[in-house]
Amino acid sequence: MNINKELLDKLLSYSQKPGVFEPGERKFWDDPYISKSMLEAHLNQYHDAASRKFETIDKTIENLINSRVLKPGMKLLDLGCGPGLYAERLAKAGINVVGIDISLRSIGYAKSEAEKNGLPVEYFCMNFFDMDFNNEFDAVIQVYGELSTFPDEMLNRLLCLVRKALKTDGVFIFDVSTRTLRLKNKRVNNWYASEGGFWRPGKHLVLEMGFDYPESDLWLDQYIVIDEENYKVYRNWFHDYSLESVKKVLDRAGLAPVKVWNDLTGSEYSSEGDWIAIAAKRSPVQET
Ligand SMILES: C[S@@+](CC[C@H](N)C(=O)[O-])C[C@H]1O[C@@H](n2cnc3c(N)ncnc32)[C@H](O)[C@@H]1O
Repeated sequence: MNINKELLDKLLSYSQKPGVFEPGERKFWDDPYISKSMLEAHLNQYHDAASRKFETIDKTIENLINSRVLKPGMKLLDLGCGPGLYAERLAKAGINVVGIDISLRSIGYAKSEAEKNGLPVEYFCMNFFDMDFNNEFDAVIQVYGELSTFPDEMLNRLLCLVRKALKTDGVFIFDVSTRTLRLKNKRVNNWYASEGGFWRPGKHLVLEMGFDYPESDLWLDQYIVIDEENYKVYRNWFHDYSLESVKKVLDRAGLAPVKVWNDLTGSEYSSEGDWIAIAAKRSPVQET
């Protein structure tokens, strides 16, 4: 059988380290098939791949309410709310929640669960970079490290939108991963064949590679997915943070931490932790 040299060269070129934040396939969260696999992953209680397990989510809500960072009656925006696992629990705690996510499938699931359980959560399928809220929310949350996936310029843009969405005394609650987590969870070079699975419904091959950019605390998990029709390259970028580096990013957007934890369940901060969880407020320096 003849090997197609052009294809081989193209595939081999993907083994070279890409430039920082060089994008892969655009559709991922909102891909019609992948979003179905992703929803299953969000709801799966055997791993923490897309969302944390329900037990951890319950502890997170408990921490945010018990620490009085969130209070019943508040109006809260959940950015990248996925299937509404936090939003519905927050609504049960008396918080007025608006959830937005780019995945139509997750939003569809979240809406049907809210309806089934009689919870007044408002859900919108939209890109959070397109939001335009002004002085509307007592709290904005973004859970499970989504902030770590953007280059500095985009992150700054998003944080400015968050700041604008918050009321003057509003609080922004989020978590970011650290280098400690990355070195435990990094993708190693590997390939596998599948008859149908996470990436595709039918036969396909997956070539997985990890690329480290230690000088920038960056990591890339790259997946080349080859099926009978074509191949696509998916790239998941992770910018890990230390407390110092995340404070700088917040400062640039006019936000400053008021509480720092090791994770959103409220465990005490340690510089060796896998995560950093922060509650931040608009900093007075930047007030206009
Ligand atoms: C790691 S998941 C976390 C979901 C949810 N926060 C949780 O912990 O259960 C990230 C979520 O962000 C959403 N997302 C990613 N980029 C987005 C964007 N630009 N606008 C809106 N949602 C986005 C994804 O669809 C996904 O549901």
